[in-house]
Amino acid sequence: MTHAPVLLPEALTGLRIQADGCYVDCTFGRGGHARAILSALGPAGRLIGFDRDPEAVVEGEALRQSDARFSILHRPFSEFQAGLASLGIHAVDGVLMDLGVSSPQLDTPSRGFSFQSDGPLDMRMDPTRDQSAADWLSVADEEEIARVLWVFGEERHARRIARAICLARVETPLQTTHALVDVVRAAQPRLDPGKHPATRSFQAIRMHINRELGEIEDALGAIVNGLNPQGRLVVISFHSLEDRLVKRFFRDASRPPAGDPRMPLPDSVAAPKLHVVGKAIKATPDEVATNPRARSAVMRIVERREAA
Ligand SMILES: C[S@@+](CC[C@H](N)C(=O)[O-])C[C@H]1O[C@@H](n2cnc3c(N)ncnc32)[C@H](O)[C@@H]1O
Repeated sequence: MTHAPVLLPEALTGLRIQADGCYVDCTFGRGGHARAILSALGPAGRLIGFDRDPEAVVEGEALRQSDARFSILHRPFSEFQAGLASLGIHAVDGVLMDLGVSSPQLDTPSRGFSFQSDGPLDMRMDPTRDQSAADWLSVADEEEIARVLWVFGEERHARRIARAICLARVETPLQTTHALVDVVRAAQPRLDPGKHPATRSFQAIRMHINRELGEIEDALGAIVNGLNPQGRLVVISFHSLEDRLVKRFFRDASRPPAGDPRMPLPDSVAAPKLHVVGKAIKATPDEVATNPRARSAVMRIVERREAA
């Protein structure tokens, strides 16, 4: 099963790869971006991949066997600093984050991400850790379920669906993706034409189960601190909440301190660490035509400033 890398040439240009540099791919997936980064590196270059999904890590191990410049870590990227420290690395020249789920995760029914095919209601990117969607839905209270559906899925029937889930689980625990689809569909007074009725609920539950926004929040500061001067961070987001979080972090870390710009900064005021590179980049119509996943992709780039 393959995964077509999104915004690939744009990400490579954004990273401004130096042949002997050290880079990190925080979201290895099936290694589409990683292989292209390795092709741009010379013999002294290095690439470290992170992925929390054991199946992605198997693919990464195979790549490591064939390319000694590459290493793979089975860790969430929120463990960026500890992961790199485990390899004796403390600063890098560029970092890529290609957020969200991969096509193999979505397309494998046994992973439980898809409402299209029936499978166990799991949805964990790392099935060796934490709670599955089935486990969470069996204990979460109605308010919490409604909040998750509303905040992460913008599901306008969040309350009705949450109530229906809590009623259904009294009869039989929700153990499969199609059992959840049936409850979600039946709870909606009207169905949107052209949109599967469980799209928003599945997206929301997946983001909650995998703590997707929390992972990004926890990682960004450590990544920026781990960049060499002029090192770049390139982030590809697929959800407006992800993009908003990234955009705000970049803005705040690149904003000059308040005050008179002609005056020298007092020692107590930290100079901004980042410089935003260009505007947000979206996929071309040609890329979207060949890879529909690219439709919602937004790429942002920042560069680490020289130390003051
Ligand atoms: C969109 S795919 C990346 C695809 C990859 N760029 C490629 O070209 O094959 C996202 C990958 O990131 C992983 N992932 C998502 N969130 C993660 C996190 N917080 N820590 C580590 N890996 C994560 C997922 O398991 C998935 O394999």
